[in-house]
Amino acid sequence: MNSHLAAISLVRNQSYGPALDRALARLHINTSKNIVAGRNVTAGYIRSWGLSEEDGFARAIAQDPVYQESMELARGLTLVAEHKLMNLFLIMKYGLAGADGDIVEFGSYKGGSAVFMANVARRLGMKARIYALDTFAGMPETDQERDLHIAGDFNDASLVKLRAFVEEHQLTNLTPVQGLFEDTAPALLEKISAVTLAHIDCDIYPAVKFAVAAVRPKMHPAGGYLAFDDPLQATCLGALEAVEDMIQTIGLHAEQAYPHLVYRYPAPMVRSTDEFDEEAFETAMSKEIELAEARAHIGKIESDLRSKTEMLGDVNKQLKVLGGQFAETSQRLLAMEEQLHIRDMRVDELQERLSKLHASTSWRVTAPLRKLKTALTGR
Ligand SMILES: C[S@@+](CC[C@H](N)C(=O)[O-])C[C@H]1O[C@@H](n2cnc3c(N)ncnc32)[C@H](O)[C@@H]1O
Repeated sequence: MNSHLAAISLVRNQSYGPALDRALARLHINTSKNIVAGRNVTAGYIRSWGLSEEDGFARAIAQDPVYQESMELARGLTLVAEHKLMNLFLIMKYGLAGADGDIVEFGSYKGGSAVFMANVARRLGMKARIYALDTFAGMPETDQERDLHIAGDFNDASLVKLRAFVEEHQLTNLTPVQGLFEDTAPALLEKISAVTLAHIDCDIYPAVKFAVAAVRPKMHPAGGYLAFDDPLQATCLGALEAVEDMIQTIGLHAEQAYPHLVYRYPAPMVRSTDEFDEEAFETAMSKEIELAEARAHIGKIESDLRSKTEMLGDVNKQLKVLGGQFAETSQRLLAMEEQLHIRDMRVDELQERLSKLHASTSWRVTAPLRKLKTALTGR
């Protein structure tokens, strides 16, 4: 059996759990066996096959709590297809295990894929910062000869809304960077030590071309990942041409073509197979799995806490409204009581005057009565 098929047999029909986790981690180790022409062919086949095939592991990954929570956060904010987000998750969890550096996204629109990566990074305990680069005001000028997109496409993004979302969900590892890549990326990349993953999702020839040229010198020396969202989309021939230019200039070969194009630059560092200590790997992996499970558990508790806090907030709001209504009604009751009291006093007063009148023998009261009697009786 060829070694890639053998690798696939390790993950075929696997359900979510430690065995799949261990296999995926192991298949991402760059050994002299699986690095071919500057990329990890085994890891590429595993991710592509796992996500595209019926007996693959897309359903199992969909049960991962870190993936689920990140997906939930990104929902409604992203145009990126679910398998592509899953692939970014696999690259981050297994491909970047132990690598120090940051993640840069060229093309963030409403911020969904950046939010997704930021949540995955924090839940996996990665130190990486995620930089989300965009005009946040729509496409700039495009290359009319190559691109289908035109200036102003995607102009319904809002940096204010994205910042509020980041604040609300405490995604402290996510930094939106507003402006044209050409204006913002050079200074940003200058201060980053290494880019472990560049997610290039900007659809048009000049932007993809610029992004590759700008980020390439900063790619992590162990073989950073260049993931291109759109060159194989029907509407993005310009993006494909920029990738073809890159292939011609630096001669890269793709590590993966489904669900999107992934390259490694520079070529991944290779570990010789004799260097590979099976026992040490198993011990390290069981610790990693325990840690990952503990983190996922903490993540779950945190998200339960967040939703309970939100519910408490709602109850408090309702209580405040009810309290306001109660205070208003009490005031009205008090005012009515006061009016009643004033009326009672007036009734008492009138009654007293009436009784006095009845008891009076004063001629001023009796004289008119006597006159009336004389007029009526004639006596
Ligand atoms: C397809 S959208 C990105 C989708 C996003 N990743 C998501 O999760 O939905 C492409 C974005 O690239 C941005 N863009 C393209 N060229 C750019 C440039 N030169 N500078 C800044 N932003 C650019 C556009 O503004 C647009 O928002």
